[in-house]
This record gives sequence, structure tokens and C-alpha cells, in this order.
Amino acid sequence: MKTYKIAVIGGDGTGPEVVREGIKSLKAAADIEKFKVELTDFDFGGDRYLRTGEVLPASAVSDLKKFDAILLGAIGHPDVKPGILEKGILLKLRFELDQYINLRPVKLYENVQTPLKDKGPKEIDYVVVRENTGGVYTGVGGNTMEGTPHEIAEQSMLYNRFQVDRCLKWAFEYTKKRNKKNTLALSGKTNVLTYVWGLWERAFNEMGQKYFPDIKREYYHVDATCMWMVKNPEWFDVIVTENLFGDIITDLGAITQGGMGIASGGNINPEGVSMFEPIGGSAPKYTGQNIINPMAAVGAVQMMLDILGERKAAVRVEDAMKKTILKMKDMGAGKMGMSTTEVGDDVANNIAE
Ligand code: IPM
Ligand code: MN
Repeated sequence: MKTYKIAVIGGDGTGPEVVREGIKSLKAAADIEKFKVELTDFDFGGDRYLRTGEVLPASAVSDLKKFDAILLGAIGHPDVKPGILEKGILLKLRFELDQYINLRPVKLYENVQTPLKDKGPKEIDYVVVRENTGGVYTGVGGNTMEGTPHEIAEQSMLYNRFQVDRCLKWAFEYTKKRNKKNTLALSGKTNVLTYVWGLWERAFNEMGQKYFPDIKREYYHVDATCMWMVKNPEWFDVIVTENLFGDIITDLGAITQGGMGIASGGNINPEGVSMFEPIGGSAPKYTGQNIINPMAAVGAVQMMLDILGERKAAVRVEDAMKKTILKMKDMGAGKMGMSTTEVGDDVANNIAE
């Protein structure tokens, strides 16, 4: 029997609660598909930082490299200055584990409300491939003459050809494997950010022509992408973009699929250890009340199984999610008509059936 070693970082706020529910589905899927999961908890997050003064222990990255995958709840604590935990834990792990793809499906399930008028599950079903290790997130820049009227602030969008090519290659291959519209849209800013987007556009067309002639290529400016994501989401199949643009457009995407309670993401290193997370954040005000929606964490488990190669288990989890979603009143915390644990139990029971 195959055993997967999974590192679990519950993290802050409601993170541990939602992860707990996701794990119920992971175990149910493993039982039925005949593989094993071995879970190891890590206490990284705001509480640990406030207790020890250390954001991440020195051994964290090398410890995590020994796992098959990581399941993350949420990072962000109301008593810690914004940026410390986000940069010190979440971004550090993405970078150090070289998780260069951030895969964020935008998929509206039956019975989920969308703010988009006249759009339903048929129209809202695409994925965003966000480059996850470059751009302004590399942190290159600085301030001089700080605090004076002449202060200079600089923050650079940095990319090398290698980073762009490996992201594009993954996106083209994913589009091919997905085999829906076989269309990959590059979302950029070639009209203003001519250096960085010149590189992306050249690399995109060269790779497409040479290696993926069967994949249709489209280009949209990122601002227009936002407009079409609202007006004509059915146009999209796979969108590929750089790190910051991907960060921004996936929040828009998330709200069109029912909000943060249901949006999941995978930080993927195709050759290494990947990390899966609900993208909603730590929602501290809902902590411990058993009212937060754990569905995004279940979705993270589903993506994890898919990327680990457990396709059948992943399909089972998604089918089970769909059944539970049909019973839910709303995707928002406290409005589900079910508690956090009830939702988690229901999905896991559906898998077992
Ligand atoms: C996300 C988040 C993070 C990001 C923050 C918390 C650093 O917004 O995962 O989208 O900007 O990538
Ligand atoms: Mn974000």
C-alpha cells in the first residue's frame, strides 16, 4: 500500500479548524482508494511567533522537503504586524520550496450564488495559473531619504527567461491535459510594462508555436481580463499570468465562484513538494465558533490528491463536495445552514458511501 507523508500547517485563526475538516475527506478517500496518509503537524503561525519570537525555525524548509505534500490552513494573526508572517512563512515557503506555480481554479458549483448576473456553473469554469516565485514578490527595491518629502520608493518587477519559460510550459501542458477549450490566455500589460511583458509575450508565442501548436493562444491586458472575467467568464479556459497580477485577478475570480469560503489554491513545485491551501485567510473573528466554511480546505485536499497522482480519489472528493454543497444555504461563515464540522463530516460521509 502506498503511503503519502503529508505535513499539516494549520496556522492561524480558523486555519486549524478548516484543515481538520479537509483531513476527514483525505482519510475517507485514502480508505476507499487503498492508500495511506501519514500526517505530521507543524505549529508555524502567529501564536508560535508571539511565543518564541521566531517566524520559522531554521530547519523548517529542510524538514518540509521530506514530505510528499503540505496542507496549509491560513497565515495571518491580528496581534502581528501585517507582512511579518505572510512574508516569513507563506512567501518564504513558496520561494524556498520553489513552488513556481500557483494554480487557482475558478469554478462555480451548482447551488452556489455568484454575483455575476445570468452566469452559472456552465459559464464559470476556468483556471488561473499564477507564476509564484518572481515579479515584485522577489522584494527587490528599497527606500531612500525615508521620511523626508523627497523620499524615493522603488519596487521592481523582476523576471528571468527561465522563470517565465517554466511557468508557461506548465500552463501549456496543463491546458492540454485539461482538454476543454484547449485555449491558453496570457494576461499581461504589454502596452505599458514593455520590458517584462515583452519577455512574457515573446516567450509565450515562441513556446506555443514550437511545442504546442494545438493550443490556441490568446492575449488580454490584465485590466481587460478583469472586465471579461465579470462580463464573459465563459470565454476562459486557462489564464496564465505573473505573480502580482495573478494575486489580484484570483480574488476577483474567487468572488465570482462564491467567495473565499470555497476558493482553493495549490502552490506547486512539479519536481518537488507542493503546498495546498484554502485562499481565504485566517478570518480571526470567526475562530473557534464552528461557523467558518471548510469547503475551500476540502477543495485544497482534492487538488492535492490530483497533483499527487491520485486522480480517482480526487474525483471522489470533488463529487462528495458537490453533494454537500447542494445542501448548503450559503458559502459564507455563519450562513451555511450547517456548522463547520457538519460540512466536513458530510463530505467525508459522501466519500465513504
Ligand atoms: C495570496 C495572498 C498572499 C499573496 C499574501 C498573504 C502574501 O494574498 O495567497 O493570494 O499575496 O500571495
Ligand atoms: Mn491574494
